[in-house]
Amino acid sequence: MVKIAPSILAADFASLKEEIVSVEEAGADMIHVDVMDGHFVPNITIGPMIVEASRRSTALPLDVHLMIEQPEHYIPAFVQAGAEIVTVHAEACPHLHRTVHLIKEQGAKAGVAINPHTPVDVLRHVLEDIDLVLLMTVNPGFGGQSFIRGVLQKITDVKTMAKEMNENIWIEVDGGVDGETAPMCIQAGANLLVAGSYVFKQEDRGEAFRKLRGDL
Ligand code: DX5
Ligand code: ZN
Repeated sequence: MVKIAPSILAADFASLKEEIVSVEEAGADMIHVDVMDGHFVPNITIGPMIVEASRRSTALPLDVHLMIEQPEHYIPAFVQAGAEIVTVHAEACPHLHRTVHLIKEQGAKAGVAINPHTPVDVLRHVLEDIDLVLLMTVNPGFGGQSFIRGVLQKITDVKTMAKEMNENIWIEVDGGVDGETAPMCIQAGANLLVAGSYVFKQEDRGEAFRKLRGDL
């Protein structure tokens, strides 16, 4: 079953609770929270306070995507704020194995994200320690960018790697996912789709989810 995680980066922050409730009622499986620090990526967004406010707005799991340097300094705060899944970037973690285990010690599920140009091989030696791989299908930093098709092969490569290692993991794609690109991602092996602008731009969010899942 393919799951959908709308990214609140594209929501109206003046009505954040209503926005979260609207996607929950329309059938979202989790809420994707994009955390940016102005160093790892050229944008600044959300900190633990907004995660805590989101936690009080929904019963859905919060899927927190840390696009920040030195994430180990902030992981405990994000888990305490209510993150069920914490994903760090391989490019930001020289001691990735240690960082992944810090997430798990704090009581959250651990994910590792890689940028479009980063080879999937960096995942091999942590695959058995993690719950989720996030493949960026845009260069991280902003919502509303165009999907990079070259990443499709990486989705299949991660799926094959996980199968060979007998690891049952979530393969999440993030960036430029819409009614046209979602079926390609699912076909390639993704089972968790992040969508920001595609979902929040549409009045009928239920229809957006059905299109993303390929039910329409
Ligand atoms: C990009 C973020 C994405 C982004 C997705 O750096 O990680 O989660 O919000 O937005 P769309 O779906 O608009 O590309
Ligand atoms: Zn994201």
